[in-house]
Amino acid sequence: MNPRHFISLLDLSGDEFRRLINRGIVLKNNRDPDYQPLKGQVLAMIFEKSSTRTRISFESGMSHFGGSALFLSPRDTQLGRGEPLQDSARVISSMVDGIMLRTDKHETVTTFAQYSSVPVINGLTDLQHPCQLLADMQTYFEHRGDIKGKTVTWIGDGNNMCHSYIHAAMVLDFNLNIACPKGYQPLAEIVDAAGERIRFFDTALAAAQNSDLVVTDVWASMGQEEEQKLRELAFKDYQVNADVMKAAHSDALFMHCLPAHRGEEVSAEVIDGAQSVIFDEAENRLHAQKSLLEFLLCKKAR
Ligand code: CP
Ligand code: NVA
Repeated sequence: MNPRHFISLLDLSGDEFRRLINRGIVLKNNRDPDYQPLKGQVLAMIFEKSSTRTRISFESGMSHFGGSALFLSPRDTQLGRGEPLQDSARVISSMVDGIMLRTDKHETVTTFAQYSSVPVINGLTDLQHPCQLLADMQTYFEHRGDIKGKTVTWIGDGNNMCHSYIHAAMVLDFNLNIACPKGYQPLAEIVDAAGERIRFFDTALAAAQNSDLVVTDVWASMGQEEEQKLRELAFKDYQVNADVMKAAHSDALFMHCLPAHRGEEVSAEVIDGAQSVIFDEAENRLHAQKSLLEFLLCKKAR
């Protein structure tokens, strides 16, 4: 039987997504050290890009559940010397219970999943960052309840995070306003599949009107460091600042997946202000992914 993977949020139904969120909240509020559903299980974590939150949350999550995690970088494995992905996926999956992969090309994760005999989790690609959305949505539900029918505003780059917000809007049924500079829009095929839930605006202020949640991300993602200066010019009018937050509902939340650049995509006043829930959001990577690990690796959880 093919294992259940987590490559995209579109792999989940709305019911499953909500179950994962609610279970993440329960796991957060009732930590039981004797609950070890993944005792003896091993998660291989392949990082071809840097990480703080993703690595620590998966590693701690496995440890809380009685299992363990292996940190693998291409520098120290044969993956970095060109061993075929198909072979690597077969070999690694024959020795572990799950594989988490952070890489640039999305196809690397889909190929890995195709040849893996155990669940594969997308820990970020240039196209999507679904694990972050589990945490973001858990954070919204904790602070404000179900997000169905609410309005979320994405400001900045039409990047991996923006794509996963579009997917979350489809699965959880919320409206998504997007304001990105010309040339930095999300991919048309991802936008088109989402239908009328997605609306584009020319300015950050217009996009934030009547919003319940305002979200942004860095202007230059990992791998785009050389474009930093160019992007600073292109994105200069797309900062989430106090004026943008004033355009949203007075109880709107602010989120950012982190790491953040204060003074670029978000003002210090907003990210460190009362509406910001960034540290709950970061902590929830742990709880939401424990919920995911239980769902994928623990036969009884499904
Ligand atoms: N938000 C996020 O994925 O953080 P890391 O890059 O630190 O894992
Ligand atoms: N868009 C960012 C997200 C980092 C968590 C990147 O890909 O670098």
